[in-house]
Amino acid sequence: MNTEGGDSNRRVRILILSGANLDLLGERDPKIYGNASLEECIESARSEAYRLGFEVDHFQSNSEGDLIDAIHKARGSCEAIVINAGALSHTSWAIHDALACFDGVVIELHLSNPAAREPFRHTSVIAGVADGSIAGFGRSGYAIAILGINELMKETERSEVGRG
Ligand code: DQA
Repeated sequence: MNTEGGDSNRRVRILILSGANLDLLGERDPKIYGNASLEECIESARSEAYRLGFEVDHFQSNSEGDLIDAIHKARGSCEAIVINAGALSHTSWAIHDALACFDGVVIELHLSNPAAREPFRHTSVIAGVADGSIAGFGRSGYAIAILGINELMKETERSEVGRG
């Protein structure tokens, strides 16, 4: 995990990526995904980020290629990515490979707990390139992800100081 920014005065920048069908949050299966819209979920992340002095960008697409392009663009401009790729989490080796080329912190996020749902949701092809995963907390997961990034960055700083 490389969390070093080029300019030490620059605020930590986090990209939240939302994949397939997440634009329908609030209308789609509210018993599973809750009543909050995607914008409201992102707002939860933004408030936590504001508290911690981070900046948040958000991008949603239903297209795998657009998500991959966004991951490429985050290289060198963002310190962390939070990704809820929707069903692409279970299938997209191309997103896996793009995330593997990103040097910062990667958090996989799900509103529901896919492990407790249908078998096809039990495998995440993204999990292996994530530093951490958050699932089952609904909208709160977005704020938890930002908190998690802060904790992971503190851990990295501590181990770097330890190394002298
Ligand atoms: C999801 C879980 C996926 O299995 C599903 O395909 C989604 C949403 C979640 O946030 O719980 O689209 O990623």
